[in-house]
Amino acid sequence: MSVLESPSARSELTPHPSDRFSFGLWTVGWTGGDQFGVATRPRLDAVEAVERLSALGAYGLTFHDDDLFAFGSSNDQRRREIGRLTRALESTGMAVPMVTTNLFSHPVFKDGGFTSNDRAVRRFALRKVLRNIDLAAELGAKTFVLWGGREGSEYDSAKDVRAALARYREALDLLCDYVTDQGVALRFAIEPKPNEPRGDILLPTVGHALAFIETLARPEMVGVNPETGHEQMAGLNVLHGVSQAMDRGKLFHIDLNGQRGIKFDQDLVFGHGDLINAFALVDLLENGGDAGGPGYTGPRHFDYKPSRTEDAAGVWASAAANMRMYLLLKQRAAAFRADPEVADAVAAARIAELREATLDPGESYRDLLADRSAFEDFDPETYFGAKGFGFVRLNQLAVEHLMGAR
Ligand code: GCO
Ligand code: MN
Ligand code: MN
Repeated sequence: MSVLESPSARSELTPHPSDRFSFGLWTVGWTGGDQFGVATRPRLDAVEAVERLSALGAYGLTFHDDDLFAFGSSNDQRRREIGRLTRALESTGMAVPMVTTNLFSHPVFKDGGFTSNDRAVRRFALRKVLRNIDLAAELGAKTFVLWGGREGSEYDSAKDVRAALARYREALDLLCDYVTDQGVALRFAIEPKPNEPRGDILLPTVGHALAFIETLARPEMVGVNPETGHEQMAGLNVLHGVSQAMDRGKLFHIDLNGQRGIKFDQDLVFGHGDLINAFALVDLLENGGDAGGPGYTGPRHFDYKPSRTEDAAGVWASAAANMRMYLLLKQRAAAFRADPEVADAVAAARIAELREATLDPGESYRDLLADRSAFEDFDPETYFGAKGFGFVRLNQLAVEHLMGAR
């Protein structure tokens, strides 16, 4: 019997609310309409989404305002849908850990929300978000994601990027003031994306967003929501972006999905893109904390799209696949870390040595300058043809664990 079939392994692979898996209503609810074709599936009701996800072992549902009630809904329609959702949450025990605003679908946002050249649109966008913050607070959400898909440009002459960044800052400062004054425990998470739908989107990577956050009036209230596929669309290693966010205490939320290379946003099931990178990401989230424990304790949020080829059964199978991929990778990461040969390769690769400060406690540059062993007596030539790090051996072990070969 292989490890994957043993009874204890089986329960490890069964999603449970304590795993904190959450899904966007727009993910399982995507009807398959794209640039080239119409929808291939009927609309999904929010109540059914909550019930189905709960039955699969998820713990949370997230949504944009417009996913729950159509843009322009009357107050009564809005309250009716919120009431239906609230009752479904109560009967299933599901949570709404995150809420976000749609500032990209309606024609009014064709040039963006917070950074539209049209000032009236910017004021309208702020009001739409403030209204949605009230709803987020009402539902007990802890994180409010800001994905500025339309904040950007196609033509360099058409957008004053410095002014756009100033307006983005003005918007975030206002939102932070509002949340502070309301006394709600809500934090903002900026979700970077390099392009699509705009030719170039503002704050295109985790690094851009982190730098921008430091310019805000209340930087402590704002973090990032990196998406696996978005960093990969820019040819970047998402592990680096997520690690840098962790380094600054800014990993407020995460969007997990799959992407295969530099192309349109595929939103595949998590792990169905760059699997080796997904393995490392799960290891970082689960085992990358300072004390060796989890490096992240927030929701494991899937922002994927059930492919257009899938029918209703395929939608739920793909939702389950995201959670199973995560749990498989978590299990594989634990086995990797427990393997004595891996420990040996990790030691040979001197992974832990990088955690040691380069200078001794209290040592200054003067002491370093006086240390002959650091320079005058140090022989860099001994590295020629020797002193390899064995990183390939370590990676081979990682891939073998990932493949279930060890
Ligand atoms: C995308 C984005 C969105 C956001 C969502 C939440 O590429 O379409 O990933 O799905 O995550 O709008 O703010
Ligand atoms: Mn995306
Ligand atoms: Mn996303």
